[in-house]
Amino acid sequence: MRQIIHKLLTFCLFFILSTDAIRYEPNWKSLDSRPLPQWYDKAKVGIFLHWGVFSVPSFETEWFWYYWKGFHNKAVVNFMTKNYRPDFTYEEFASKFWTEFYQPDKWAELFKKSGAKYVVLTSKHHEGYTMWPSKYSFQWNVMQTGPKRDLVGELAKSVRAQNLTFGLYHSLLEWFNPMYVTDKKNGFTTNELVRFKVRPEMEELVNMYKPDIIWSDGDWEASDTYWNSTNFLAWLYNDSPVKDTVVVNDRWGNNTRCKHGGFWNCEDKYNPGQLQRHKWENAMTIDSHSWGYRREMTINDVKTIHDLIHELAKTIAYGGNILINVGPTMEGTIAPIFQERLLELGNWLHVNGEAVYESGVWKHQNDTITKNVFYTERAGFVYGIVLQYNLKIEFGSVDYSSVKSIHLLGCNEKVQFTKSPNGHVLVLFPNLTPLSHAKVAYVFKFVLN
Ligand SMILES: *[C@@H]1O[C@H](CO)[C@@H](O)[C@H](O)[C@H]1NC(C)=O
Ligand SMILES: *[C@@H]1O[C@H](CO)[C@@H](O)[C@H](O)[C@H]1NC(C)=O
Ligand SMILES: *[C@@H]1O[C@H](CO)[C@@H](O)[C@H](O)[C@H]1NC(C)=O
Ligand SMILES: *[C@@H]1O[C@H](CO)[C@@H](O)[C@H](O)[C@H]1NC(C)=O
Repeated sequence: MRQIIHKLLTFCLFFILSTDAIRYEPNWKSLDSRPLPQWYDKAKVGIFLHWGVFSVPSFETEWFWYYWKGFHNKAVVNFMTKNYRPDFTYEEFASKFWTEFYQPDKWAELFKKSGAKYVVLTSKHHEGYTMWPSKYSFQWNVMQTGPKRDLVGELAKSVRAQNLTFGLYHSLLEWFNPMYVTDKKNGFTTNELVRFKVRPEMEELVNMYKPDIIWSDGDWEASDTYWNSTNFLAWLYNDSPVKDTVVVNDRWGNNTRCKHGGFWNCEDKYNPGQLQRHKWENAMTIDSHSWGYRREMTINDVKTIHDLIHELAKTIAYGGNILINVGPTMEGTIAPIFQERLLELGNWLHVNGEAVYESGVWKHQNDTITKNVFYTERAGFVYGIVLQYNLKIEFGSVDYSSVKSIHLLGCNEKVQFTKSPNGHVLVLFPNLTPLSHAKVAYVFKFVLN
């Protein structure tokens, strides 16, 4: 008997050790079998930062260089003609990228107060400029041209000091890099850019900053084979310093979006309004027109707190995470209007976060009768997020007979409710005192029998 137990134990131990030692192979079947580290789904809300040399002209778009020299966009060409010497080059903008007011600790405090759980910074956008002192950047980096500080490293430190998770955006393609231009001319049958730049710089980035998110982008002109993506991911999952915690998105080649990778972004501002078969993220932006900061932005372009919470509720209810973008300025500040939005969000989440963090999808995601009511579920409670104030509200997805009690988050008193004519729950809104709420959206918590 003892021998059998011993054998069983040995077998179990062997099993545990051998599963622990799973190595992923550089193909999607193997890579896609990796479970998504759990912290990500629990976190729900992240902050996205588009910052780079494009923040210097800060006009129209973070695609400024390409609008100017690629698309020959009228507004951008005129802007340059009107305001700069005829021979001014995009590279010259970098020497004005001083970031003289950059206080990463203050940023991180703001992000903490916003209620976000992770922060994703553009380490390199399609312009190719690296926001860290990369060995592979041919001087086109923060230490040699521009601010002369390590913008990535400083933010990583500050963000982690607030117990937030740190992640990095990284663009595979670089519009005007001669190696990329050559590869493209060769129909992507050569891969100079990937061998001499993308691959070594991504390993460098991971080894130096240990990001827990790699938010890949700029993949769309070539396949995952050109980018050697599966090979990189196998290294990331097997041998990198973040192999157990890192999550990645799905932008690894023109054939991978909404198909392969970690969580799925699919498209920018993806918010499908229905359940997905895979964990997904809605990357959206507070300035409706641009990811990078634009000095000509007006108040009408800025999402209201109501828009933002609506977007959040609609995302979380269907199992997504929301990644909320703001574009910092070239001086290293975050515009007060963005600060205000993030703080309003934080106030709301402070009261209503239990319906958001670590929540799951419920059997209904929106209400069958009342518009703009979204549901989540957590620890056996059901939460109904209501986006507007009503004297009475019918929860058409909630059976009257299943409800023991109802609470309005942020209010102490119990909520009065009755049975609607068709057997659902009819709630009378409690009297709200001004201090009790960030009056943007109301969360009802259903305690079920
Ligand atoms: C971060 O977490 C640690 C350990 O849980 C805690 O001691 C510390 O106070 C936290 N810091 C902040 C800024 O929340
Ligand atoms: C994807 O990129 C490859 C080059 O790597 C190209 O040959 C192929 O046509 C592209 N596919 C699509 C659907 O654009
Ligand atoms: C992909 O990367 C690996 C490791 O660096 C290398 O051995 C391989 O040749 C690369 N494949 C392509 C197609 O570049
Ligand atoms: C609820 O969502 C479904 C799609 O999943 C949609 O067809 C329906 O109109 C929504 N209902 C309301 C009341 O918004």
